Amino acid sequence: MRTADLLLLGAAQVVTCDGGRAAAKRGPREMNDLRVIEDGAIAVRRGKILAVGPTNDITRTYRGMQRFYCRGRTILPGFVDAHTHPVFAKMREDEFARRTRGEDYEAILAAGGGIHASAEALREAPQSALVADVRARLDSMLLHGTTAVEAKSGYGLTPESEVKSLRVIQKAAAQHPMTAARTFLGAHVVPKEYHRARAAYVKLLIEQMIPRVARQRLASFCDVFVEKSAFSVKEAREILRAGKRHGLRPKVHADQFRDSGGAKLAAELGAISVEHVDATGRSGIRALAKAGVIPVLLPAAALFTGLTHKPNARALIEAGCAVALATDFNPGTAPSENLALTASLGCSLLGMTPEEVIIAITRNAAAACGLQENHGRIAKGRPANLVVLDAPSYTFLPYRMGTNLVHQVFVNGRKVVKQGRRVRQAAPR
Ligand code: NIG
Ligand code: FE
Repeated sequence: MRTADLLLLGAAQVVTCDGGRAAAKRGPREMNDLRVIEDGAIAVRRGKILAVGPTNDITRTYRGMQRFYCRGRTILPGFVDAHTHPVFAKMREDEFARRTRGEDYEAILAAGGGIHASAEALREAPQSALVADVRARLDSMLLHGTTAVEAKSGYGLTPESEVKSLRVIQKAAAQHPMTAARTFLGAHVVPKEYHRARAAYVKLLIEQMIPRVARQRLASFCDVFVEKSAFSVKEAREILRAGKRHGLRPKVHADQFRDSGGAKLAAELGAISVEHVDATGRSGIRALAKAGVIPVLLPAAALFTGLTHKPNARALIEAGCAVALATDFNPGTAPSENLALTASLGCSLLGMTPEEVIIAITRNAAAACGLQENHGRIAKGRPANLVVLDAPSYTFLPYRMGTNLVHQVFVNGRKVVKQGRRVRQAAPR
């Protein structure tokens, strides 16, 4: 008998999301291949997965210090939320109410609200208060089964407050079990004070902000919101190229409200991912598939902004893309940290299968933010980042729309959510 620290036994299903050589699963065949073990078990030692297989095989080989019986439950890889904006000082419920009365998202933004209102509030907010807010938001994500997240700045829009935002993510994650990949989104919109001098803000981004963020190792990725109300393709190209020169991989907020060529730019620059793509046309989709850029679809944001457009998930998958799904958690267009709800919308709004949405919030989401080594699949030698759902099969995850089925969450083999509640450790790591 071999000794494990932890044994999870008798799960109705262990959904490994394993298999295949590439980091992400592409196209319909791979994205529907979940690799499920019925009556499955997992052995963990020193935070890593020693073995995964049928319960009979695991109990024959391993003796465990800690044993959990998962009868009637389903184990999945910890979810990865590949696109979030968690650093903000205030919610924007008033703007939401105004939109229910007919005001338009882009018109509010153009009038100095929306992202501009968030920037005003964030600039004033002390770093310590923002860290506490982000930690609480990470807690809420963890309770919904998310164990890794991509987190963007973008509500600062000055060198100081963008740096502050990235430090906030760094500090909050250091005090939390979740992993956070950081993205510099200084090019979220042109801040109000530069409205008559757009070129000067682009210059500030390229000559000061990007070099500073890179020098201080505050981000791995550089993102630009390419949209009529934000940056043009030409401006974005310059900004993302500058990011690349400084070692920041490109990501693009593309074609959210209209096809402005953002997806094609992502393909041209070899971006790691392209996000939203609600209005991307056929040629943009072909370009993404050819360049191997991961489309990160955000159906909660599309729904919350009135569903004027929605991403063509079927065409993206059929074209051979490795599609991911994310919440887009932010105070304007997607105030929900529930990634299972996003998965549900992936099925009901975007026509994806339960298998595809699960790959899209685990394996492919991890690849979209460079976290594929430690997240997104259950496999021997990988860290034990796991979610135990109170459900007899994985189909329940998208099916039980909006209901939190998370029973337990393990991060590096340590239990951090127990019976749907956070387990607090004595001392921070
Ligand atoms: O991804 N599209 C741009 N950025 C965010 C929304 C930001 C906001 O409204 O605060 C998004 O939807
Ligand atoms: Fe976004």
